[in-house]
Amino acid sequence: MSASLVRPAGKDPRPHRDFVTELDFSRQEVIETLALARELKELRDRPDSAALQHQTWGLIFHKPSLRTRISFEVAIDQLGGSHIYLTDNEIQLGKRETIADAARVLSRYLNGIVIRTFKQSDVEELAQHADVPVINALTDLLHPCQIMSDILTIYEKLGRYEDFKLVYIGDGNNVTNSWLNLSTLLGFELVVATSPDTLPDAGIFERAQKAGSSRVVISHDPQEAVHGANVIYTDVWASMGQKDKFVEKEQALRAFQVNGDLLRKADKDCIVMHCLPAERGREITDEVMDGRHSVVFDQAENRLHMQKAIILKLLEV
Ligand code: CP
Ligand code: NVA
Repeated sequence: MSASLVRPAGKDPRPHRDFVTELDFSRQEVIETLALARELKELRDRPDSAALQHQTWGLIFHKPSLRTRISFEVAIDQLGGSHIYLTDNEIQLGKRETIADAARVLSRYLNGIVIRTFKQSDVEELAQHADVPVINALTDLLHPCQIMSDILTIYEKLGRYEDFKLVYIGDGNNVTNSWLNLSTLLGFELVVATSPDTLPDAGIFERAQKAGSSRVVISHDPQEAVHGANVIYTDVWASMGQKDKFVEKEQALRAFQVNGDLLRKADKDCIVMHCLPAERGREITDEVMDGRHSVVFDQAENRLHMQKAIILKLLEV
């Protein structure tokens, strides 16, 4: 066979970029994406339905999802594209064939891939070998789209995206790691109040401290940590994929519940955030979740506007 008939298995030269970690964006790009999300939110009743015209995006979900899946599906739909929702039953990523081969094939059909899975390294491998944008919709390590929309919510509520004190209370998980990553790009005070047995990723924490953009500390005393907080943030004590550790996590984190007593020690205008789904009565009480400080449903709504902004930002190349 003539060599010219053999198409190399490597990437097409199509320019594209990925969002597999917050650090795929520069500080300037975070700020621009925030502005774009705010514009898109204003246009919500008359969305630009042409941006993804003739595009099909693949949504690969290996874990359950309400907000992320639905907001991406609606976002793609409102931008004029279509999507295919895929669970592990269909692709069996890394099992039926290598992740690299699956990435190469998917790139021949799709215009973009959104993936929620367990290992961050699987998302990175997919992104490395795909020649269409790959967006991380949550791994055990990170939840970057969540944190991008949360900073939009903070901007709406506080009127600024820097110079605030955010106290994350609870399990040092993917959401905590994403806050730590964002703290290297924007400037704020980040206190992670957690037990010695539920710390966030050590490497990510160290990088955030060394970056020097934000003041980043760990506290084991939630009562003391929330003093002067503008934002209290919490999440489930046992994440998806870690439910087998539920009993030990609950024991370690019992003193880290976000409840009325704790909230009274924060700034009087403090907002309370939770990425949801919440386990009411565990990491957060009904009183707080349904109280006047809670912005959790605004947070959930902003996922939609931010997913659009992230997609459009990636397509700017
Ligand atoms: N916050 C969030 O990612 O929710 P889902 O797991 O429902 O997508
Ligand atoms: N930390 C949680 C976030 C869910 C959106 C989890 O990974 O289950």
